[in-house]
Amino acid sequence: MLCLSDPSLLITQSLIGDAMCEGEQSWAVHNPATEQVIAQVRLVNEVSREVALVSAQAAQVDWAGLSGMARGQILRCWGDLMRANEQDLACLLTHEQGKPIVEARAEIAYAAAYFHWFAGEAERAYGRSLPAGDGKRYWVEPRPLGVVAAITPWNFPAAMLARKLAAAVAAGNGAIAKPALETPFSALAMVQLGIRAGLPAGLVNVLLTDQAEAMGAWFCREPGIAKITFTGSTAVGKWLLARAGAEVKPCTMELGGNAPFIVFADADLNAALEGFMACKFRNAGQTCISANRLLLQKSIAVEFLNLLRARLNTLHYGNGMSNGVNLGPLIHAKACKRLQEKIINAQNAGARVEWFGVDKREHSQGSFFVPALVTGVTPTMYLFTEESFGPVVAVTEFTTYEDAIELANKTQYGLAAYVYSQNITHINRCQRQLQFGMLGINDAHLSHVFAPFGGVKESGFGREGGLEGISHYQSQQFVAWGNNF
Ligand code: SIN
Repeated sequence: MLCLSDPSLLITQSLIGDAMCEGEQSWAVHNPATEQVIAQVRLVNEVSREVALVSAQAAQVDWAGLSGMARGQILRCWGDLMRANEQDLACLLTHEQGKPIVEARAEIAYAAAYFHWFAGEAERAYGRSLPAGDGKRYWVEPRPLGVVAAITPWNFPAAMLARKLAAAVAAGNGAIAKPALETPFSALAMVQLGIRAGLPAGLVNVLLTDQAEAMGAWFCREPGIAKITFTGSTAVGKWLLARAGAEVKPCTMELGGNAPFIVFADADLNAALEGFMACKFRNAGQTCISANRLLLQKSIAVEFLNLLRARLNTLHYGNGMSNGVNLGPLIHAKACKRLQEKIINAQNAGARVEWFGVDKREHSQGSFFVPALVTGVTPTMYLFTEESFGPVVAVTEFTTYEDAIELANKTQYGLAAYVYSQNITHINRCQRQLQFGMLGINDAHLSHVFAPFGGVKESGFGREGGLEGISHYQSQQFVAWGNNF
């Protein structure tokens, strides 16, 4: 039963212009832990998206004309309101997404921090002057793009939208968000708090639709949409890029990962274990930067796996609202089925599977997946080639440093990688040889608002957060001012 201190934060309609939009069709949003309907949301039609665009375009002109200080003040207030409503927002998040309430609170704090971070970036979005002679002046001025379309996933429905919207709005843009339909409530509540913080009506719109393909195609072809920022699968990213490319429309793509987590024989094994548990089981493994492949040096594999087995039994899976639960469900039954198929594929090819965890469910419902340890994983198995996106540890052993690097890079993805070693030569070489956008060295925490988040290869391009984050929502206008007047 969803119980909020501020019930007005449970919004079930799209936010368009200065109003909530009564769509014709409805869609039931389920709690993945109980399979019960949380609420019905109303879906928009094609007319509504045009209204959203016109609203955002109209509001964006004045918004871009404000000083960075003025935009920053509203963003800061938005972040403050997120913190003030943290418990309600976390509750909504756990209900719609399934993650344990402690993790949900952490996600809301992480999301709020993006508004605080980009408030500062708005204030310091400097251009630069270039050397000029003859009484001329040259400078480069960052300009907003216009209206940005933000397509966000269900795994971090608050944080992924926050880091797009905060950057876009800080730079002086308007936005249309299309959150995943599995988890619309976080997005709606967050934007509602933005409006309470002082965002002009219509600057940021949230559209709920079950026609994801039609909406994506419209974002790509509609000239009024200046940019697409997408977090999701590589397959959908490629689909969007093909269409956006045809219109020469800029994109930021935060796509799939397949992170190796390398433990060398000289590592501090306890530190590696701590890091691995945090990184692998955050959000039940439904994280693009989750440790997808555990690469263990043979000489310490038995010892490390024994330590790991003991820790896997401390995973208590159940409803994220219940005390003591540290592993929630997967997002839906389809996700469980896909993961089960990957395990069967590995098992059929000779891998060994062990099951762990403590069942803390009150009922048998929910899309839960029992944590598993799969050893003997080889590079041809799906558990090695694809993101598992679930609480499954896939172990591959290696002998030499060179084997480790070759295995780690044996993927078309390049989002995150982790290395545990006390050998400075190994670390130094890994940093240069691992082909990933983010690297944790004896550190499994890569999610920080001050850091540029993003990948290489088929994990996408563009960076979110950090100093780099705002630049992806600006164009750099070069101005040459002559001396003949
Ligand atoms: C992701 O990897 O899915 C995003 C998580 C994050 O920003 O920590």
